[in-house]
Amino acid sequence: SAAEKGGYDYFMLKEIAEQPKAVADTLLGRIDGSGSLTLDEVRIPPQVLREVDKVVVVACGTAFHAGLIAKYAIEHWTRIPCEVELASEFRYRDPILDQQTLVIAISQSGETMDTLMAVRHAREQGSRVLAICNTNGSTIPRESDAVLYTHAGPEVAVASTKAFLTQLVACYLVALYLGQVRGTKWGDEIRAVVRDLSSIAGAVEQVLGTMEPVRELARTLASKNTVLFLGRHVGYPVALEGALKLKELAYMHAEGFAAGELKHGPIALIEEDLPVVVVVPSPRGRSVLHDKIVSNIQEIRARGARTIVIAEEGDEAVVPYADHLIRIPVTPTLLQPMVATVPLQVFACELATARGNEVDQPRNLAKSVTVE
Ligand code: AGP
Repeated sequence: SAAEKGGYDYFMLKEIAEQPKAVADTLLGRIDGSGSLTLDEVRIPPQVLREVDKVVVVACGTAFHAGLIAKYAIEHWTRIPCEVELASEFRYRDPILDQQTLVIAISQSGETMDTLMAVRHAREQGSRVLAICNTNGSTIPRESDAVLYTHAGPEVAVASTKAFLTQLVACYLVALYLGQVRGTKWGDEIRAVVRDLSSIAGAVEQVLGTMEPVRELARTLASKNTVLFLGRHVGYPVALEGALKLKELAYMHAEGFAAGELKHGPIALIEEDLPVVVVVPSPRGRSVLHDKIVSNIQEIRARGARTIVIAEEGDEAVVPYADHLIRIPVTPTLLQPMVATVPLQVFACELATARGNEVDQPRNLAKSVTVE
């Protein structure tokens, strides 16, 4: 009913709008006054976490994209090698798992059969499993050694939005916590990022306040057949997520690429007026990546692409090559997906509406996939 949707036309719109609160709620009580992480609910003893020599993340769909981003954070802050795998592929390839492997299973519903089967397989091999889940008492957390709940509240729309942002928060928390427990040379950076995390809900709110031009742009693209998404570093999984949202909601052909791969094939797809969304890394931090992606934008534009550029406030280098420029607040490099994903959600939702699609219940899809 309209009341359930809180005055919004669709649950998806309501859930997009709820993201700042979902993010803040997921952080609540997990950082103490001195800026240390207090993840007491992760009942895997620090001793065991210090002995972990490999992290494997398993998940499906949007949760898998959260896992891809987690890899950057985990490897950077903990120096533990991290693999990310689609849960449906994982157990069929005889993965190398033992007691020193920490498996992180990410699932909004906690009922996804592929992910559950991956959890069971990992535990049979003696690995510890930490679930990141949004649904209290669901099967995946019940069958895991520990759980870190995301506090997104119920997500009704089939297309995941607020659950994704809170999965990212949970992944950052786990990565930072592992770093804290094990003590790494990034101690100071970890403390700084913990501080930055506390303001990230505000940054998400800020993005939400600037989405009208994104909606307008989406409406002008309603009759397109294809949209491509490019990203690099943590922007690459964001590109994949943007493409997945568009497939699910707009039923359009959408693909995400690592920008560095363009010249290895995908650039052949570029043609006159093809919309290409580019997620630009911060010009601070890993500035080499920033400069490389700016040349990618130049290259595709020279071949006729209509460039839709998502770039940090103050990044002036992109301006001459952006047919459409979507600004996002400045964040630490690894946290950028928290703000860069939001315009892509709004974009897909508006395109779906413009194409007359059912936003909350896309064709052929179920909210949780409880069969293999
Ligand atoms: C996201 O928009 C999708 N509907 C889907 O990919 C989903 O993320 C996937 O099925 C995993 O679900 P889960 O998080 O409940 O395990």
